Amino acid sequence: MADNTTPTIMKGLEGVYFTETKICKVDGAKGRLWYRGYSIESLAKNSSFEEVSYLILYGSLPNVDALGAFRNKLVSCMALDGKLVDLIKGLNGKMAAMDILRTIVSAMPAFSEKKVFQNENDERIEEAIEIVGRICGIVATIGAVSKNGNYTGPDSTLGVAGNILYMLNGKKPDEKTSRMLDVMMLLHAEHSSNASTFCTIVAGSTLADIYSAITAGICALKGPLHGGADEKALDMMKAIGSPDNTEKYIEEALEGKKKIMGFGHRVYKAYDPRAKVIKAYLEDIQNGSTLEVQTFTAIALRAEKMMVEKLGETKGIWPNVDFFSGPVYTYIGIPKDLFTPLFAASRSPGWCAHMLEYWQDNKLIRPLDYYNGQLDIPYVPIEQRK
Ligand SMILES: CC(C)(COP(=O)(O)OP(=O)(O)OC[C@H]1O[C@@H](n2cnc3c(N)ncnc32)[C@H](O)[C@@H]1OP(=O)(O)O)[C@@H](O)C(=O)NCCC(=O)NCCS
Repeated sequence: MADNTTPTIMKGLEGVYFTETKICKVDGAKGRLWYRGYSIESLAKNSSFEEVSYLILYGSLPNVDALGAFRNKLVSCMALDGKLVDLIKGLNGKMAAMDILRTIVSAMPAFSEKKVFQNENDERIEEAIEIVGRICGIVATIGAVSKNGNYTGPDSTLGVAGNILYMLNGKKPDEKTSRMLDVMMLLHAEHSSNASTFCTIVAGSTLADIYSAITAGICALKGPLHGGADEKALDMMKAIGSPDNTEKYIEEALEGKKKIMGFGHRVYKAYDPRAKVIKAYLEDIQNGSTLEVQTFTAIALRAEKMMVEKLGETKGIWPNVDFFSGPVYTYIGIPKDLFTPLFAASRSPGWCAHMLEYWQDNKLIRPLDYYNGQLDIPYVPIEQRK
């Protein structure tokens, strides 16, 4: 032992507060979520991704003119430089969509008109708006290039979600689908100090530029314990194959101590309120969609019922935001490997807002680890080692 005092180690930083914030509140015990004081239910019902992004970044809801200008800025930033599109085309087929996104975001300053790392808060917000819009355009283009090799620029008559679908498919989406994606995006826009937001802040706390910080956030989001769970949850639904196989599959997985992706949460020990909103969509799309979507939907609802009965009240393991996303995204026409990149685009306002807030009173993040190995080991020259 290094010394005889053992500190309390909070594995995974569980239960540790590292900063104060006015951006987001998660009440894990009650299953409640607020962005800047507004409940997620009221935002999902009344707001849009653009308005929520404005709220998260500026701290208050915009008026009509401010929202219009903000939306135009975001949409214009979704247009990509030809060389950036070429970069995406060069990586297409060689890496997963999420890896392409990570690489392209780290290269974004090469295609930005502004200088990296602005000093004034207003300039930083401008930079953040550019990043949010650009990532949305990049994600749509990664999908489009993989689908048909083409780049379609944004249409100024559409909002961000509508443009993601337009740039992805080369045709304008219908209102219902576009609104569904809009709500999905706003539900993912922010979620306090989750792993990717924390990672963003850790990188930014060294006073690295915002592109580096956001790239760090994307790296953390990728994992299946975090944002990557949405793709894995759909993989499971595919593996189950038929609704009647659901209970047996879940039973065996739990007996084998496997985790069911899209369930459980570090903070929520109650039903994730975002999952409730998405579940309502599932009930809506159950009829009148493709057989594939109907099958995923039926499997998802049966799996949820069983998991909630088995592990809900007893272990505090409930569906999280990633469980029902797969069937909804499939209904909308989003390919599976774009789920997590789309999550990243949706979360980018949250990452940026936290970074900007933290920089207002920056402190390098540098926790301690408790060394429990040996000390002062005599050095043995290499020729004397066995
Ligand atoms: C999100 C997650 C990482 C939170 O984990 P955590 O707070 O570190 O909790 P743990 O992973 O230590 O899990 C605690 C217990 O619940 C169980 N558990 C947690 N999530 C579970 C799941 N999805 N399916 C089955 N059991 C689960 C663990 O096996 C563990 O059981 P034990 O006490 O008998 O060993 C975890 O719930 C998980 O891996 N979920 C699946 C991935 C996912 O959906 N991620 C997206 C989160 S938004």
